[in-house]
Amino acid sequence: MLKNMTPQEFKEAIIKLKKEKNAIILAHNYQIPDIYDVADLIGDSLDLSRRASKTDAEIIVFCGVHFMAESAKMLSPEKKVLLPSMQAGCFMADMVTVEKLREKKKEHPNAKVVCYVNSSAAVKAESDICCTSANAVKVVNSLDAEEIIFVPDQHLAEYVQRFTDKKIITWPGYCIVHHQLLPEKVIEAQKNHPDAVLIVHPESRSEVVDLADHVTSTNGMLDVVANSDAKEFLIATEEGMLERLRREYPDRKFYALMGVCINMKKITLQNTYETLLEEKNEIFVDEEIAEKAKFTLERMLEVN
Ligand code: 13P
Ligand code: SF4
Repeated sequence: MLKNMTPQEFKEAIIKLKKEKNAIILAHNYQIPDIYDVADLIGDSLDLSRRASKTDAEIIVFCGVHFMAESAKMLSPEKKVLLPSMQAGCFMADMVTVEKLREKKKEHPNAKVVCYVNSSAAVKAESDICCTSANAVKVVNSLDAEEIIFVPDQHLAEYVQRFTDKKIITWPGYCIVHHQLLPEKVIEAQKNHPDAVLIVHPESRSEVVDLADHVTSTNGMLDVVANSDAKEFLIATEEGMLERLRREYPDRKFYALMGVCINMKKITLQNTYETLLEEKNEIFVDEEIAEKAKFTLERMLEVN
């Protein structure tokens, strides 16, 4: 039966199951359009965390990557949180470990630790507060410390440094999708599309950020387009974001500057259907870690 199901049949079956099981589907902007069609909310990391902390549903199916589902579980511990592919990790999140972070904290005993939400629960538990790309500057400036250890994204850390007097101690992590974009490619695209507005995600290299008309999270990109009269946009973030922008603004033109995140694309209609049907791939977080990590997420949500 499964093998012969069409995308439309999968969608109808998923929507029916959601009702029967009192489940919601939270989908990151980088998901494929088929997933948008079954989602209750499509958003950036901050938006999805907020929704996960508030829902009345009994089951949350997280169409995104592992750290996002883990965050949803910590914000809503009484809910069943399912991830359609347990292989959907995040390369950047794997670039910081608790052991290495502890060493760094010893080197800078007066510093506070801000961890990007793209990190494991264990790293969050070792930090003072979490942030996303949408609120990183605000989070850092909310802290009463002169030194901030910012993990794991060096580029987001460098971006934050532009807007704070605090000393940001960076970590050598990065997103391979965003890191690969070099300024030369952006300049070439600007030559080919001289009227296009350039919107850049802050996970990008500083030299790319320097060229941007706007620097913002994936949801922020939707807002920039909503408030702009421009007809063309160059988008410096994971390619899936263009599907979202094209769906919301079919009258505008969007040009991609980056490739895809293979982890985000591990989520399909079929594994979403099977996951919800069998209530498998449940996310569990060690209780002690979850308690500490939840605090860092809640502190972030209080700031913004
Ligand atoms: P936002 O959608 O929160 O801007 O983050 C992008 C990202 O890379 C998520 O992994
Ligand atoms: Fe991680 Fe980059 Fe993929 Fe986002 S796009 S999930 S940061 S590897």
